[in-house]
Amino acid sequence: MIILNRYIPDEVINEIRNAADIVDIVSETVRLRKQGNNYVGLCPFHSEKTPSFMVSHEKQIFRCFGCGEGGNVFSFIMKRDSLSFPEAVKALAQKVGIQLPEQENPEKAAEIKLRDRYFKINELAKNFYQYILQNHGIAKDARRYLEQRQISSETIEKFQIGYAPPSWNSLLQFLSNKGFSGKELETVGLVLPRTRGSEGHYDRFRNRIMFPIWNVQGKIVGFGGRVLDDTLPKYLNSPESLLFNKSHNLYGLNKALESIRQSDQVIIVEGYLDVITCHQAGINNVVASLGTALTREQGKLLLRYAKNVIMAYDTDAAGVKATMKGWQLLDELGFRLKVVSMPNGKDPDEFIKNHGKEKFLQLVQEYGQNLCDYQTDRAMEKFDIYTLEGKFKIASEVIPSINNMSNEIEKDETINRLAKRLHLSPEAIRAEVEKFTRTSRNDWRNRDKIVDIRNNNTDFVKVGNTDLGQTGARVKAERTLMSMVLHDIKLFKKVKDQIGITFTENQEYLVIINLLNEIVEKELNYQPASFFDRINNERVSACLSSLMVLDLPVEDKEKVFDDCLKTIKEDETRKRREDLLRQMENADKQRDYELRKKLLLEYSKLI
Ligand code: UTP
Ligand code: MN
Repeated sequence: MIILNRYIPDEVINEIRNAADIVDIVSETVRLRKQGNNYVGLCPFHSEKTPSFMVSHEKQIFRCFGCGEGGNVFSFIMKRDSLSFPEAVKALAQKVGIQLPEQENPEKAAEIKLRDRYFKINELAKNFYQYILQNHGIAKDARRYLEQRQISSETIEKFQIGYAPPSWNSLLQFLSNKGFSGKELETVGLVLPRTRGSEGHYDRFRNRIMFPIWNVQGKIVGFGGRVLDDTLPKYLNSPESLLFNKSHNLYGLNKALESIRQSDQVIIVEGYLDVITCHQAGINNVVASLGTALTREQGKLLLRYAKNVIMAYDTDAAGVKATMKGWQLLDELGFRLKVVSMPNGKDPDEFIKNHGKEKFLQLVQEYGQNLCDYQTDRAMEKFDIYTLEGKFKIASEVIPSINNMSNEIEKDETINRLAKRLHLSPEAIRAEVEKFTRTSRNDWRNRDKIVDIRNNNTDFVKVGNTDLGQTGARVKAERTLMSMVLHDIKLFKKVKDQIGITFTENQEYLVIINLLNEIVEKELNYQPASFFDRINNERVSACLSSLMVLDLPVEDKEKVFDDCLKTIKEDETRKRREDLLRQMENADKQRDYELRKKLLLEYSKLI
C-alpha cells in the first residue's frame, strides 16, 4: 500500500466519515447484536468470552468496557488493520467510493520511483552478503563466529544475515555489473567516495557480519555490520538516507508484528543480537531501538500495535540512562510500562544463552518493575545506604519519578517500598515527595500543561493527579458536564462564561476542553464522532470514548447541566475557603493581624 503522506482536507475526512456507517464497518469482523439503542459484540482488541464491546449507531463511535479501547470509525480501522490515520482514511474512502483529491505531483512520483530503485539496490546487496556468508571460503571465520554465538542456520536465513568480505570493492563491482552507478550506491550508503583526488568509490562494509535492517513492510532500508573481534567500532551502520531514518525505525518490527499484536505487548531491547536471540528462542514480540535512545517516532510507531511495553535494556550506564529517558517518553504516549534488568549487567542475548528462554520469560512476566523501583536499585548500587547522606542521595534520585506517577495507589506502594529499603518512615518520604511537588509544580508540570494546551499538543499530555483531593460529587459533576458538552457543543459557551476553561484538574478533560474551545472559537463544524480525529493520545481518546457513551439525562437536561455547574462552583468556593483558613492560621502564627483581617473579610464573603 502506498503510504499517504499528504494532507487530506477536513471536509473530505468528514464526508468519508458520514458516508460510512460504523456498524457496517465493525460488522465486517465482529458479530454484532442489537441491544437497546446500541450494538454489542466480542471485543476484537482483547480476548473475552462475554461481550463488552459496544457500537453506537447514533453517535457513530465504539467503546470496549473491557479494555477501554474506543473511538470513531477511523480509529477502529486504524486499530484493526494497524494503519496510520491517512491510511485508514484512504481505505475507508475506497470502500465508500469517495475519490480522494488527486495531487500526486510528478516530483512525488519520481521520488517513489527512486525509492524503489534504492530498495532494489539494498535487496541485491543483501543477496550478495548472504551468498558470500553461505558459500565463500573467505567467510569461514564469519561462519565460525556465528556458530560460536549459537546462531542457528535457520536464524541466519530468517534474519538474512550475511558477510561483507574484506575486499575494498567486491560489492561495488557486483552492483556496478548490475547497472548501478557509484553515486547511487553512495546515496544508499553502501559505498564511500574515494578521497585524495582519486576518482571512484569503495565498499563501506568490509570484513563484517551484515544485518539487514527492514522497515515495517519488510523492505531493507539499511544495514548494520559487526566486526568479528573486539575492533572498534563494533558496529558500523548505514547512514541516514532517503530510505533509512533511524529515529523512525525499530529493528525487527516487521518480524515481531504478529506476536506484538497477539500479546498486546512488546519487549524493547538494545541490540541486533538481542532481537535475534529472542526470536531464535521463540520469543517473537521483541524489537530493538538500535543503541540510540528511543525516540518519540519509534514510540508512536509501536502505539499502533500494542499498549504494554517491557524495556529490557543493558544494565550498564548507557542502558540505564536510555531506560530512564525512554520510560518518560513512552509514559507520555500512554503505554503501560515495565522495566526488567538482566542480572550482572548482561544483555538479553547473554541472559537467554546462559539461563534459557524460560528464565527470561519469567524475568519479563514476574520481575518487571516500575521506573522508581528500577531507579532505586540503580541508586543503591551507587550510594551507601548505611549513611544518612547515601539515603538522601538515593531518595533524591527517585523522588522526581515518584512525583511523576499518575496512579495514586501505585505511588503509595512505591513510597512504602522505598521507605522500607532505606529504613526510613514512609511519612518522611511522602513529605519529601510533597516538597518536591510543591517546588516543581510551576517548574514543569503546569508549564508543560499550559504550553501543551496552548500549542494544542494533545499527544504530550502528562497525566497529573487526576481526581486527587476531589469530592465524589465534584468528579461526577465534571464528568456529566463534559459528556453533555460533547453531546451538545452549544452548552460550551455557558461553561466558559461561568467557570472558565481550566476548572478541572483532570488532564484529559483539559485537552478535550481546549479542543472544544478551538472548535467554538474558529466556528468549525462539530460532530461528536469527528472529535477522535483530532486526538492522538491513547489516554485522551479512552477518556473521550468513555465520556461519549455515558447515558445522558433524558429529561430536565438544563437543570442537570446547571446543577453540575453549581456543584463545581461550590466546590471551588469550598476549596478557596479552606485555603483562606490555612492562610489565616499562618497569619496568626506570624502575628500579622492586618493580613488576617483581610483574609477574614474575604472568607466571610464566601459563606
Ligand atoms: P551493544 O554494544 O550492546 O551490542 O550495542 P550488542 O547488540 O549487544 O552486540 P554484541 O552482543 O556485543 O555482539 C547495542 C546496539 O547499539 C548499536 C547497535 O545497534 C547494537 O546492536 N551500536 C553499538 C552501534 O550502532 N555501534 C556500535 O559501535 C555499538
Ligand atoms: Mn550483546
